[in-house]
Amino acid sequence: MELHYTLGTIGDAAKQLWERFGAYRIFAFNGEMGAGKTTFIHALCDHLQVQDTVSSPTFALINEYHFINEGKDNTIYHLDWYRLKDTAEAINAGMEDCILQAKNKTAWCFIEWPEKAAALLNLPHVSLSIETVSNTERKMIATIIS
Ligand SMILES: Nc1ncnc2c1ncn2[C@@H]1O[C@H](COP(=O)(O)OP(=O)(O)OP(=O)(O)O)[C@@H](O)[C@H]1O
Ligand SMILES: [Mg+2]
Repeated sequence: MELHYTLGTIGDAAKQLWERFGAYRIFAFNGEMGAGKTTFIHALCDHLQVQDTVSSPTFALINEYHFINEGKDNTIYHLDWYRLKDTAEAINAGMEDCILQAKNKTAWCFIEWPEKAAALLNLPHVSLSIETVSNTERKMIATIIS
């Protein structure tokens, strides 16, 4: 799936992505600094009617959000692996536990800088790559890694 969007249409892009891939539990967001990973995750959370404040987990490394669907509480872990050196550090920081919850379908994981601990992603997930087309436009390519 390929999406082109601006900040004006990002909500519709998030809706399309979720309609196609929402059954998956792990979303790995690839893209350079400032490509728009956090911004897209924010739009996805808005689409899911998350009430918590969505922000870059640069310092905490893990942000937890909740949304209600069909009367049921759902958990999203927003993970930022930028500051991790390797998989061992990621495990120490509690990332594997978040991934296991996603695997068991008790949470979703939205991950920025997934390449920092790629060994943790050795299971089916959605890989997104965001490219800057211009100051205002982004291109996202979504593929299933199975
Ligand atoms: N179409 C667009 N989609 C997303 N962001 C856009 C778009 N157009 C402009 N921007 C701007 O680009 C910036 C994207 O920043 P963002 O923090 O989302 O990037 P990031 O990929 O999460 O960076 P980092 O690797 O530092 O976490 C924001 O300032 C945002 O306003
Ligand atoms: Mg970010």
